[in-house]
Amino acid sequence: MTILIDQPQFGIEVEGKRVVNNEKELEFDEGFIMPNANTFGHNFRDYEVESERQEGVENFYRTNHINQTYDFVKKMREKYGKLDRVEMSIWECCELLNDVVDESDPDLDEPQIEHLLQTAEAIRKDYPNEDWLHLTALIHDLGKVLLLPSFGALPQWAVVGDTYPVGCAFDESIVHNKYFKENPDYKNPAYDTKCGVYSEGCGLDKVMMSWGHDDYMYLVAKENKSTLPSAGLFVIRYHSFYALHRSGAYKHLLNEEDEENLKWLKIFNKYDLYSKSKVRIDVEEVKPYYLSLIEKYFPTRLRW
Ligand SMILES: [Fe+2]
Ligand SMILES: [Fe+2]
Repeated sequence: MTILIDQPQFGIEVEGKRVVNNEKELEFDEGFIMPNANTFGHNFRDYEVESERQEGVENFYRTNHINQTYDFVKKMREKYGKLDRVEMSIWECCELLNDVVDESDPDLDEPQIEHLLQTAEAIRKDYPNEDWLHLTALIHDLGKVLLLPSFGALPQWAVVGDTYPVGCAFDESIVHNKYFKENPDYKNPAYDTKCGVYSEGCGLDKVMMSWGHDDYMYLVAKENKSTLPSAGLFVIRYHSFYALHRSGAYKHLLNEEDEENLKWLKIFNKYDLYSKSKVRIDVEEVKPYYLSLIEKYFPTRLRW
């Protein structure tokens, strides 16, 4: 029979936060009792919680690395690029995200919107003139609505975690790189070279990235004709591309504009990681400022 159980708190480090796996369906034989204590009565989880967590992260990346193929990304971009699911404003989506991420992030004890505003406000304090970067910080994770049933309830591996190019060789610096051996693209001669289907210096906007909340939000912003500067769109699309902004891989695909934008991404990333600092934000107090930025850079209603 099939029983729904609560998984142990396996977590995936995503942008310095923990994202806990959703409930999973496990198959049990009738009458089987889940052994959660050993013969001495100790709870396995007491001393194995760390290795279980590691295992959870590793399983997450294994599934991710096997399934993120060039064809998969192409299909997802085609499907979600239609933006035919819902019409709503940026702020409405911020409020929608409140309901999504709270459940999967037990480390976060304030509403998600406050967490997004913490990042934005921290950047605003240090870079008061870059209003586009304040707004970018507020919206960069909105693509996580892909986890919602109305957006197809995509599994975690197709929404969060590190991103990387598909259609060319997987770089060794990508976390848990060994699992790419099981990806069908790994042995495809069209894809298994340094440039693959791309060319040196072609620019990252020509490159297909593994599918997740980053690329989805980028598509939403672009297709709805956001007037954010290219650095803002760059931050949104590549903020989980750690192989690039942390390890310096894939530089051969960058063009001059990407090199410039990368400087902003590195600045942004420091605040994204640091945003768990518990500075309480009065949402109602800062809301008018962000609504004015949304009005400046986005249409009133967007297609999602
Ligand atoms: Fe993100
Ligand atoms: Fe983030």
